[in-house]
Amino acid sequence: MAVQQAAVIGAGTMGAEIALVIAEHGVPVVLKEIAPQYLERGLRQIDALLQRRVERGRLRTEEAQAARARIHPTLEEQALTTVDFVIEAVPEQLALKQAVFRDLGRLTPPHAVLATNTSSLPVHELAQASGRPANVIGFHFFNPASVMRLVEVVVTAETAEATVATALAFARQIGKLPVRVRECPGFLVNRILVAGMVEGMRYQQEQRAALDAVDRALREQARVPMGPFQLADLVGLDIVAEIGGILEAAYGERFQVPPIVRELVAQGRLGQKSGGGFYQPDGTPLPLGDQPVEGEQLVQRVLAAGFLEAYRCLEEGIASPDEIDLAMQAGAGWPLGPLTWAEQQGLPRVVALLQRLAATVGPRFTPPASLVERAARGEPLRPQPTDTPRSGGA
Ligand code: 3HC
Repeated sequence: MAVQQAAVIGAGTMGAEIALVIAEHGVPVVLKEIAPQYLERGLRQIDALLQRRVERGRLRTEEAQAARARIHPTLEEQALTTVDFVIEAVPEQLALKQAVFRDLGRLTPPHAVLATNTSSLPVHELAQASGRPANVIGFHFFNPASVMRLVEVVVTAETAEATVATALAFARQIGKLPVRVRECPGFLVNRILVAGMVEGMRYQQEQRAALDAVDRALREQARVPMGPFQLADLVGLDIVAEIGGILEAAYGERFQVPPIVRELVAQGRLGQKSGGGFYQPDGTPLPLGDQPVEGEQLVQRVLAAGFLEAYRCLEEGIASPDEIDLAMQAGAGWPLGPLTWAEQQGLPRVVALLQRLAATVGPRFTPPASLVERAARGEPLRPQPTDTPRSGGA
């Protein structure tokens, strides 16, 4: 059944933009907040995005007005008693989100899907709080939520298949590309993206390289849309520090975010949302280094780190090989998925690169034994189409 009425809890940067995406696709959406000033801030963001779309000729004025009219801002929890699909997008604090899920379990109709946009908290713990874990699922958007096509649909051990089916269908209903992901810390895309981001930042620190030279080299030579410092400014340095901390606790030092990130957070430099992070609002980079970049080495380190994490996700059964690649393209704008990158290089060459990086940069690049064996056996990363049986064969 198509979703007739949706709700978004929290009108922050992500929540407001998610509500707009839903409304633009013809679905009425309740936007719930706890105080009028938060609601007003979210609505200002929505109006600014709509105005920009109209100015750029992406929407007609009447379409923008119709989308805006489908957003129902409220402070009242009673507005949640008739919704079919709720997306929680409140700040990333476990206790706060658990309280929201307790309320959602109490207020929403029994059939309603209770989804969370969390980027790194355990979905199954929110599910427990709701009292109906079968209805709970991760529904993770990517920044900017109205532009990036991906939604990670994060499935816990207790999520019902009917909930998964509704979430996949609703993502498509609002113009997104859903990828089904098995729950693990960091899910799929942030694991791969942050592995590459941290590696780019580490390179900058070691080489005392200019920030903008690092970003430029990755844009030009790896053809990713943003280098690590631009990306951190877009996502928010506080979020990077938080996700990095969760990933490091779960998987170890390969996710160790350089201390400069937390130092800047402590200074209130959070990125675009606070008027500057690694870059000033006029685009000037912070003077954290001035050395030139050896582009090939930087690109190899970042892509190898991303591929290694993608390979681990594949081995852990987090998503299918095709969906891993698709997710990095639709969620982070990578020109190629990490597995396709490795296939194009050839697995034996990738293994040799990882071994060289393990010896020269750090043991975090050590290729897993299963990858080394796979490369030696000539076994591909994804199942190949089976040979058509020969006529007359058994
Ligand atoms: N908010 C909303 N819309 C924005 C935006 C923003 N911050 N920045 C750009 N846009 C829109 C523009 O209005 C434009 O829309 P239009 O095509 O309708 O006119 C469109 O995006 C393209 O913008 P530009 O032409 O100005 O710029 P680019 O071509 O450089 O594209 C980008 C901008 C789409 C952001 C591109 O740089 C990109 O893909 N970057 C990678 C982003 C990424 O990796 N996101 C994932 C981060 S991880 C995450 O979010 C997970 C979370 O858990 C932390």
